[in-house]
Amino acid sequence: MNILDIIDKKEKNEKLTKEELQYVINGYLDGSIKDYQMAAFLTEIDLLGLSEEETINLTDIMLHSGEILNLGFDNITDKHSTGGVGDKTTIVLAPLVASLGVKVAKMSGRGLGHTGGTIDKLESIKGFQTSMSLEKFKDQVSKIGIALVGGMGNLVPADKKIYALRDVTGTVDSVPLIASSIMSKKLASGASNIVIDLKVGSGALVSSLEEAKKLASLMVTIGKNNNKQTACVLTNMDEPLGYAVGNSVEVIEAINTLKGQGPKDLTDLVIKLGGLMTAMGLNISEKEAQIKVKENLYNGKGYQKMLEWVKAQGGDINNIPLAKHTKIISSPKSGYISSINALEIGKLARKLGAGRLTKDEEIDLSVGLILNYKVGDYVQKDEPLVTIFYNEKEITEAEVLSCFKFSDSKINSPKLIIDIIR
Ligand code: URA
Repeated sequence: MNILDIIDKKEKNEKLTKEELQYVINGYLDGSIKDYQMAAFLTEIDLLGLSEEETINLTDIMLHSGEILNLGFDNITDKHSTGGVGDKTTIVLAPLVASLGVKVAKMSGRGLGHTGGTIDKLESIKGFQTSMSLEKFKDQVSKIGIALVGGMGNLVPADKKIYALRDVTGTVDSVPLIASSIMSKKLASGASNIVIDLKVGSGALVSSLEEAKKLASLMVTIGKNNNKQTACVLTNMDEPLGYAVGNSVEVIEAINTLKGQGPKDLTDLVIKLGGLMTAMGLNISEKEAQIKVKENLYNGKGYQKMLEWVKAQGGDINNIPLAKHTKIISSPKSGYISSINALEIGKLARKLGAGRLTKDEEIDLSVGLILNYKVGDYVQKDEPLVTIFYNEKEITEAEVLSCFKFSDSKINSPKLIIDIIR
């Protein structure tokens, strides 16, 4: 076997055997297959795709490239988001479902993005520790039912190396590569139930609904093939989720949501995803699970679990620093808001310092934007549209206003939950 023959075979769109895929992954990990050869191979996959069987095999090979965590609990429920602007869902969901007895032992990322990942966001709570030993992690899960860290063990080293190459070779947006990357990590982290929030739209990894449906059913098939209960919810990411975009501003919005005072879209999403997680985790019907989720969202038990969780990880919930300066941008006209460009709002948050372009860049957790309206809302001229929280880096009024479109006629709010694949 050699890499040139395998690239050639893929180029002819012939099916690759598991042994051939294993040869490529092993060779890339041990350095005998070079970056330029792997880039050629990934580009062929990006152009021609992989069959379902090949994707299942690739996921299995990636999964076994490193450690597979065994936390010693028989029923861990995980949730994954493909990431979007203003996505603070995990910070609400994790304590909420844990307050119902669903065990959450979660690894999250920092991520390269417009804002930080869940780990960065949680670190905007002063003192919050996002790394701990495996022993402490397990102990915290068994005592309070929830722990969340940035990483644990040497999980899926093949994905780390391949993802870094995909990032610089324009091969991130391939459906089989995304499916194998996400699912190998989820399977390695030891969860028995997996709920995926697959964002679709301008501010998301996947912008076409057709591609999103393909990706969702592939991930669900891979999960089931590995005997995991798996569901994938397709959700709209054309406008930011909720009102807050940044790190500390998003944590504050997440806390308000856990107190039952969150934005409608975020609350609806939490009830939907929380219902699925709870149904899987407690083995009850989704209807019953959603009732329980709503109860703990409004009776304070979800918030109490958040307090317990933050304390266990060393954080002070009363100390979430915000930027030194604020500036209000007012609406230039009266009318209905017809679009808020999630991607551009995300880029502005990054320009303020809330996100990073390279993995070693420092980010400013205290900066961000809070929008006052959602698509479909009516706004009066000169009413505050957006509040900017900033320190050294600034953005202009024109940049903010270019993210908004207005209409004189009524606009319906976009549908948040597009589909569920299970
Ligand atoms: N997130 C991942 O973890 N992997 C991908 O390939 C894309 C998004």
